[in-house]
Amino acid sequence: MVLYDDARWHEFLDCVPDLIGSREVLSMRAIPHHPGCSCYEHSVFVAYIAYRLARRWRLDARMAARCGLLHDLYLYNAREPGTHPGNQCFDHPVAAVRNARALCGGLSAKEENIILSHMWPLAKRRPRSREAAVVNLADKFCATLEVSQFWRFMGMRQMVTA
Ligand SMILES: [Fe+2]
Ligand SMILES: [Fe+2]
Repeated sequence: MVLYDDARWHEFLDCVPDLIGSREVLSMRAIPHHPGCSCYEHSVFVAYIAYRLARRWRLDARMAARCGLLHDLYLYNAREPGTHPGNQCFDHPVAAVRNARALCGGLSAKEENIILSHMWPLAKRRPRSREAAVVNLADKFCATLEVSQFWRFMGMRQMVTA
């Protein structure tokens, strides 16, 4: 699967038009995530990869794209002390689901589980749908490429910040 495909990218954008330009999602541009990568860049990368995988496996690709975009919507800088109550690994999916619920005016139980379970198996909440497994997998795949700095050489940065 070629990662970037123009037609697929526009199909992906058609799944998230109300979210990707929202103040909340755009505010993730100011939140650092992995080294050299903002929370916004990471979230768009995860959402696009989750969309591609879900589409390929004939799952609900729209839901995978939307929940992928919202999975890290915790909206604080975890590097600043006092921004969250405990361990970031366990705290941030809970903050993300709260913010996503407010942004979307409610979420289904399946959508909530997709966001809450994205840190499994580090955190104990398990993915309960194939779409949740896809977002979980996309998160780990993208995080690995980001931490290794590999994504810089793949043209992904130009894509997700376009
Ligand atoms: Fe996360
Ligand atoms: Fe993530």
